[in-house]
Amino acid sequence: MGVVASAPAKVILFGEHFVVYGEPAIVLAIDKRAYAEAKFQDKKRLSLRSLNLNLAGHFEDGSFTIEQGDAKEARAKFEPIKSAVDKVLEKHGEGVGLDIQINSMVPVAAGLGSSAAVAAATTAAVAALLNVTMSKEDIFRITYESEKVVHGTPSGIDPAISTFGGTLLFQMDTGFKPIEVKTEIPLVIGDTGVERSTRTQVEKVRGLKERYPQVVEPIMSAAREVVLRAMDALKENDLKTLGELMNINHALLYGVGVSDESLEWLVNAARKSGALGAKLTGAGGGGCMVALAKNDNLQQVMEAIQRTGGSPFVARKTDEGVRVERA
Ligand code: MEV
Repeated sequence: MGVVASAPAKVILFGEHFVVYGEPAIVLAIDKRAYAEAKFQDKKRLSLRSLNLNLAGHFEDGSFTIEQGDAKEARAKFEPIKSAVDKVLEKHGEGVGLDIQINSMVPVAAGLGSSAAVAAATTAAVAALLNVTMSKEDIFRITYESEKVVHGTPSGIDPAISTFGGTLLFQMDTGFKPIEVKTEIPLVIGDTGVERSTRTQVEKVRGLKERYPQVVEPIMSAAREVVLRAMDALKENDLKTLGELMNINHALLYGVGVSDESLEWLVNAARKSGALGAKLTGAGGGGCMVALAKNDNLQQVMEAIQRTGGSPFVARKTDEGVRVERA
């Protein structure tokens, strides 16, 4: 038996994309987790298997061999995980054969931070197997490096929340502060089922910002103001204001070109069914949206999203970041 560790997915409530340019964002960890099991193996190779993606393969002597699924896809998914494992092996000091099995409950390429959750869980599982002492700060840094392999120039918000859990006010320069949220925030996530790449979405915003700096910069400052007001609304448990601010945040994201038709359908359906607010979450261009509902209309919002072709689920916040489940 090996060591199993897990890490949570996330939902960005406010500030995605603008966070890449130093603006603040609010993110919370949700009760969907990615699991990684690490075991020793006799062969000096790194074997990886993803149960949810039906992919398997191994790295040995600098080359990759496919065992199940499409080789290009497997390599793209496994390369960042390998980079995290290599960092733990560096700390361990000697090469060993490892067999890692991943099982993630987080929809992939959907804005919920699945790649960071998988990298954080794998880092923790391998470190525990090898008895390498690692602080959460270390796991965060390794996961952040692995995210750079996947997304190019990420802000670090996904690795931070997967590692530390809870609700965070995140800013690139100043780091992150836990936010105490006393009230239940009833959230419905709607998955459009349209997969997209965070890297492409971030590059799209960068292109727009370079072409129209005077237009995009005021949008960024409006987004900063939205986050600051949302912090006050969270402190005061003012869900109505939070909902309104989510709608404004969505409009700003639409303005920088990261919404798409599939998201607009779900956002509008959620609002029409009585949600207090709705917006895309994460990188956009497909992926997921999030609606703030009242406790007594969660069901209506879910049904509206379902009728419009999305896959809805209720997301509960969790304080639990990365953790070893079974040593
Ligand atoms: C992705 O979850 C959030 C983005 O803001 C990118 C990032 O912050 O790294 C789109």
